[in-house]
Amino acid sequence: MGRLSGKKAFITGGAGGIGLGIALAMAREGAKVAIADINEPLLAEAMLVAKGLDITSVHCDVSDRADVFAKIDKFVSDAGGLDILVNNAVMFHYALMTDFEPEIVDRMLNVGLKGTYWCLQAATPHLKANGGGAIINLSSIAVSSAIPNASIYTSIKGAIDALTRQQSAELGAYGIRVNAVAPGAIPTPGANSVIDAAGWQAREQKTLLKRLPTADDIGHAAVFLGSDEASTITGVTLKIDSGMTLT
Ligand SMILES: NC(=O)c1ccc[n+]([C@@H]2O[C@H](COP(=O)([O-])OP(=O)(O)OC[C@H]3O[C@@H](n4cnc5c(N)ncnc54)[C@H](O)[C@@H]3O)[C@@H](O)[C@H]2O)c1
Repeated sequence: MGRLSGKKAFITGGAGGIGLGIALAMAREGAKVAIADINEPLLAEAMLVAKGLDITSVHCDVSDRADVFAKIDKFVSDAGGLDILVNNAVMFHYALMTDFEPEIVDRMLNVGLKGTYWCLQAATPHLKANGGGAIINLSSIAVSSAIPNASIYTSIKGAIDALTRQQSAELGAYGIRVNAVAPGAIPTPGANSVIDAAGWQAREQKTLLKRLPTADDIGHAAVFLGSDEASTITGVTLKIDSGMTLT
């Protein structure tokens, strides 16, 4: 028996990076998992990695509210319920605030913030019907740091922190816990598009543990927050950064 046996989890942006780390960790603990993503080739690769685990791939664009409702409803109907929602999908882009193209600002907000909101709206009735559940949002340590060129990304993540607290208040009475994890810097396809080798080295040196966390590390934390072991934890943002923000 795994720590998530019998639980059903819907993970956005689950085809790669941290989302896939969370999906694999949850499935290894017995959860039935859907990885929802727009990147078809990455979804296909992820399904190879997930061989032998109870993971299905779902093409879902979180910025499209109708698509989100359709895909979450279908997963719930196929799986027989919903226990865990992980809001992980994001679009990375760094630029000087004065140079940010309006179209990119819109896309980032549509994926990272509004996409999270649509997923919360679509999943909540199912979690209520389930008698409770766990929502895990992806925040970032970037929220409390000052990072040049990251004005939109950090604004989105700050909003995710606020949303986590607000939704924990609205949903607590239904037994729905809402928490966030705030990873430190982790080399993923998305993060590699905005951080170079020297940047990774500098970040690693800044950690107290002298190693960056991995997607697996975030997966382990998400398993805990999604499990009944965390049944009295809500409204919390858990930093997983090898102590980087303490230095
Ligand atoms: N990597 C880091 O250093 C780091 C640090 C702190 C927080 N985070 C957070 O962790 C989460 C995952 O980050 P990552 O580094 O794995 O990013 P990533 O870019 O590597 O992965 C994001 C995934 O989201 C998917 N996606 C993009 N747009 C989508 C859409 N419209 N609908 C559905 N899926 C979509 C992508 O295809 C991709 O598979 C993000 O919320 C990010 O803010 C990452």
